[in-house]
Amino acid sequence: MANSAVTMDKLVALCKARGIIFAGSEIYGGMGNTWDYGPVGVEIKNNIKRAWWKRFVYENDNSFGLDAAILMNSRVWEASGHTTSFSDPKMDCKSCKTRHRADNLIEAHSKGSVNPDTMSNEEMENYIREHRVKCPVCGNFDWTNIRTFNLMFETSRGVTDESQNKIYLRPETAQGEFVNFLNVQRTTRAKVPFGIAQIGKAFRNEITPGNFIFRTIEFEQMEHQFFCKAGTDEMYYREYKEKAMQFLLDLGFAPEHLRFHDHDKLAHYARAACDIQYLYPMGWQELNGIHNRTDFDLTRHQEYSGKSLTYVDPVSGERYIPYVIEYSIGADRLMLAVLSEAYEEETLEGGDVRSVLHFHPAIAAYKAAVLPLQKNLAPQAKELLAKLKKRFAVIYDEAGSIGKRYRRQDEIGTPFCITVDFDTLENGTVTVRDRDTMEQIRLHADEVAAFLAEKCVF
Ligand code: GAP
Repeated sequence: MANSAVTMDKLVALCKARGIIFAGSEIYGGMGNTWDYGPVGVEIKNNIKRAWWKRFVYENDNSFGLDAAILMNSRVWEASGHTTSFSDPKMDCKSCKTRHRADNLIEAHSKGSVNPDTMSNEEMENYIREHRVKCPVCGNFDWTNIRTFNLMFETSRGVTDESQNKIYLRPETAQGEFVNFLNVQRTTRAKVPFGIAQIGKAFRNEITPGNFIFRTIEFEQMEHQFFCKAGTDEMYYREYKEKAMQFLLDLGFAPEHLRFHDHDKLAHYARAACDIQYLYPMGWQELNGIHNRTDFDLTRHQEYSGKSLTYVDPVSGERYIPYVIEYSIGADRLMLAVLSEAYEEETLEGGDVRSVLHFHPAIAAYKAAVLPLQKNLAPQAKELLAKLKKRFAVIYDEAGSIGKRYRRQDEIGTPFCITVDFDTLENGTVTVRDRDTMEQIRLHADEVAAFLAEKCVF
């Protein structure tokens, strides 16, 4: 793994050229900060989600999946505090009419040495005034005061104007997990501690979206809420920090590209919070968050819904509202990190440069490419392809020289190229080329499926 050579421009170009990610609504001139995943990208993203689900649902003791509705009763967002306080401090540049987040301006100006998270709006305004922080777009110093701006997308339901009701596109998946706490507990007969996991779309009217798929207005979250008894929360918070980090290391991230960042300023309900940051092409940025949310969420939903969310311990009969340890990671943000980490421009003997995505085989869009050495070997190659397709996502390519076909697969990170050649006709063997080492071994065609199954497990 190496990410020193990668720039955002290179990643965007590769993603566009190889069917990984396209600009949203491109033929209409685009729709700012929306992105469409192409044939290769959708496979990679699905594999990322599958790996996360496997780790945090199937392999995680006492953990259950959920797929809650995106549109929720508006009272949910009142209870969660989103209608009143889900906002960013924005400032407009009066000269060039661009909009900025005050905290981002301070962070950039101080090169990270000042933490705006601990500042009030007034303190941020004072800092920007005293340090004459200029507009990063036009270079002028001509700001409005800070105004807060709710990030939730509003829509309405109802068939006539009179019956319209304001509702919101969810800005996080977490609330679906909180409001279903007792539904999941009762139907699974789970005992606290247990977890609920969910993957789904979230929407935020971000003031400063950007950096490709890093911060967008529509994105997917993978969230896990772990319900536990007060007093055990600190232990489970530490445990989830470790689990979150281990997941990334197992995906193949270099430890020196990841770091914990503990929050100094906590939300009023949180007892502890941290991010794991990744060294993206644009620098260290949050990849995921882990929060000890205390009993805030369930208590609020109990209060606002009027329905009890109290857990009754089946052995002791004790009644209490559990604490929540939340682990939340954006699927798109993880995909950007995976792509950055995997990308390499490797100079080969003889001076040629190959672009290659070295990600974990489980994440690769296709586990193998089946290539006939020459077109007249296509029938044998297609026979093998048909067998492999039953178990894996595999791709077929017969166009161009074998070297060019290898390069195309390297660029999308296909871990193995299976070449059907003249020996295949003689003895049934094929060559298997490894993407990373470029070394080749010979296997009997009947052994290829077992080989791929072993290599591609996460
Ligand atoms: N339920 C907690 C929550 O939503 P968050 O820190 O706001 O916490 C969690 O978001 C994760 O979701 C982030 O760490 C990031 O990976 C992802 N995320 C948040 N906003 C995003 C955006 N605008 N675009 C892409 N990913 C985003």
